[in-house]
Order: sequence, then C-alpha cells, then structure tokens
Amino acid sequence: MARSATVYACSTCGHESPKWHGRCPGCGEWNSFVEEARAAPAAASRRSGRPASLRPVRLADVETPRVDRLPTGIGELDRVLGGGLVPGSLVLIGGSPGIGKSTLTTGALGNLAAAGRKVLYVSGEESAAQVKLRAERLGSGALSVPIVAETDLEAVLATLKAERPDACVIDSVQVLYDSALSGAPGSVGQVREVAGRVMRVAKERGIATLLVGHVTKEGSLAGPRVLEHLVDCVLSFEGERERTYRTLRALKNRFGSTNEAGVFEMRDHGLVEVEDASARFVSEATRAPGSVVLCAMEGSRPLLVEVQALVAPSELVPPRRVANGVDRNRLALVLAVLARHGGISLGSSDVFVSVAGGVRVDEPGADLAIALALASAAKGATPGPDGLPLAAFGELGLTGELRHVAHAERRLAEAAKFGLKTVVRPGERTTTLRQALRAVAASALSPAA
Ligand code: TYD
Ligand code: MG
Repeated sequence: MARSATVYACSTCGHESPKWHGRCPGCGEWNSFVEEARAAPAAASRRSGRPASLRPVRLADVETPRVDRLPTGIGELDRVLGGGLVPGSLVLIGGSPGIGKSTLTTGALGNLAAAGRKVLYVSGEESAAQVKLRAERLGSGALSVPIVAETDLEAVLATLKAERPDACVIDSVQVLYDSALSGAPGSVGQVREVAGRVMRVAKERGIATLLVGHVTKEGSLAGPRVLEHLVDCVLSFEGERERTYRTLRALKNRFGSTNEAGVFEMRDHGLVEVEDASARFVSEATRAPGSVVLCAMEGSRPLLVEVQALVAPSELVPPRRVANGVDRNRLALVLAVLARHGGISLGSSDVFVSVAGGVRVDEPGADLAIALALASAAKGATPGPDGLPLAAFGELGLTGELRHVAHAERRLAEAAKFGLKTVVRPGERTTTLRQALRAVAASALSPAA
C-alpha cells in the first residue's frame, strides 16, 4: 500500500498547506502548524451522484444496544469509569511520569486476564523485561498478561487486528509513531494520528482500549489537549510522586459521571485502593494551630482531608504564597476576603497552605476551611474543641458572606462518623466569614501551649 502524503494543518483554524508556516496564513496564529497524514482521496471519488437523503429517527425510538462492561477488578477504577470498561471505547489515562499509570493499567489487565478475558499490553516505553519486573511485584494475574514491546504504529495495529483482544493498553500514546509522518513521536501530529487510527481499529473490533498519556509540565495531555475530543473518557491520575496517595478522576466520560474519583496508595506490591481515606486523614490530622479538617466531596463521595496553613513574617516584597493541593487563585481570593471582611491581614507574611497527604481539592467548598486554617495559623491558636480537629466546609463570597455548597448532609454525616462534632459551615447563625471566625473563637480558640 502506498503511503499517503502528508499535509500541514493549523491546529487553531484548520487551514491546510503543503508546507509548514511559522504563522498561519488563515488565522494569524503563531506556531500552530502540525503535520498530518492526508486523507485518502478514495473517499471523495467514491461519492458519485447525489447522496441519498437520510431518515431522521426520534430519539425515543433509537435503539440502544445493551453494553456488557468489562469490570477491571480495581474497584476505584471501575467506579471512576462508571462501572468498568465499555467494549470498543477509548479511554485516555493521563498523569505525570512515575505516578503509577503503568502499574494501574497492568493491574487492570491482570485482573481481566484472570477473569478469562483476552488482553494485550503494548509497551512502547519499556522493554518486555522491564514490564515483567513490575508485574512480578503485582502478582500472578499481572504475569499472565501477554505483551508486545513495539513503537511502530503499523505493527501495533496489525497485532491488534490479528489478536482481537477484549481489552488492550497502549503505554504510551506518545511513543508510538507513524513512519509516514516526519514529525517526532509525541508531536501533536503524531499523537493525533496514532490515537485516531487506534480508535478506528478499536471501534471496528470492539476492543476496549486504554491509552496512557503523559502530561506536560503545564499539565496538558500531549500538548494542546489534542486527544480530549477524540476519546470517550479522559482520566487523570494525580498526586505527588514523593507522596503515597494518588487520586484518579474522570475529566470526561461518555459512559458515566465525571464526578467520581478514586483514591489509591502506592505500596511495595502495587497500588492499593484506599476505601477508608477519611479515617486515614482524620487520624493523621495534627490538631495543631493552622490545621483544619475539610469536609470535601470527591465526586459523589465525601472525603475528610486536613488543610494545613503556616503564616510567617516575611522579608520579601511581595511575600510568598505557596499552595499545595489547592488552587493558587483560590488561596489569593481567601486571603483577600480574610483581609477585607475578616480583619486578618497577612500582607506582610509568607503564607503556605497545603492539603496533607498530597490530595488535591478543587472545589469552592474548600474556602472556609482554608480561611479558618489561616486564621488559626495567624493567631497561633488551636482551632478545635477538646483536642478534636475542627471541621469546616463552605464557599466564601467576595462580600464576605458564606455560601452554601452541594451535599451538605453527606459532608456532615462523614464528619459525624469520625467523631468530629464541631463543623463550621454556612447556616442560620453563620452567614458571614466574620460570624464563622467569632463562633470558632468563642467555642474553641485557645492559645497554644
Ligand atoms: P509506574 O507505574 O511505572 O509509573 P508511570 O507509568 O506513571 O510512569 O510506577 C511509578 C512508581 O511507582 C515507580 O517509581 C515505582 C513505584 N512502584 C511502587 O512503589 N510499588 C510497586 O509495586 C510498583 C509496581 C511501582
Ligand atoms: Mg509507565
């Protein structure tokens, strides 16, 4: 088969040109041209005559085939996927190097193989021997997974067609390459081509495919999020490599909710699901000044995490603002509201806020816990009553008011489950940040010993 010629296309406006441009003649964007394979001309010439008109079908009458999902046997992963892998679907799992993507996907395939499914692991990054070393740590299920170590896209596609596995993992999408394109493996053009062609084979043969992708320093998958619109699910595996806890979230899911998240811990023999994450984090909470337990929601599941703050006099102008596990802009907003409406100005102090355990909380409900942790750190006073950690949740408005957040009942129930009786939250008597600070001060704030 003759190789199709390539064409350069602007990734912003789609303008095509036979040669590369630094600036797109179509839309004026700089550095947006990527090399792509030219579509085969056969499709165009086949379209002779007028196309027949189509008959629209009422949505209610559309037939939906019942899909039997493939459970991966990893409960947290299945939950995030919405109940297991869907045959023929393409799932992109992204995360920084060393986070545990290969460990998670090898484990999933191992469980599927043990359940009698046909699986295939395509490793482009590591040799078969390296993957075997990892599988030895994971146990016998993982060792029964068949592997090919290959980076040439044509060879991988041919293998998929010949083997027809129920589920396959491609680790990673950035190292496979189509030799018809001159771009380096991992370039936008290559990644898009690789994913597109894998998708066609996967849909045709009903292969559930997990594409592993590295995120860049900026946090995007393979450059300008080129794959997100193409695949059915985008999962993000997050956490800090040095810490043991990792969270898996769905950023996009055509077959389930994007509100689910799973918590894992990296141990010597692989990733272990953390089902009682709240218990862990509460027992580890320090109860010292600057520590507040946040009743957060991880998807549909309540999760208690410890928010820690440290406030120290600064020599720097502007002083340091360091945020780990919470958004920097969120921290800036909380600091501004604290100064303007809470009477606590930290303009000449370094401020550090972090979520213990390396978990990330990305929800407005974290505002109040951050504010109370900062207030407690600034005053050097322990926030909780009777040696118990103080728990809180709620969003801060720009005018200093406390705003209600979703799932208040579930958050409260989770706190109660772990014996946290005092939960500061938006309510009848606490409608502003100032009232919340006063309530905490009246009931508990005692100078640190
Ligand atoms: P890996 O799955 O290779 O990460 P990724 O594919 O995302 O780059 O694993 C990452 C780290 O996990 C690696 O540094 C070693 C560690 N690890 C464990 O601590 N325990 C284990 O059982 C395994 C397999 C790996
Ligand atoms: Mg890997």
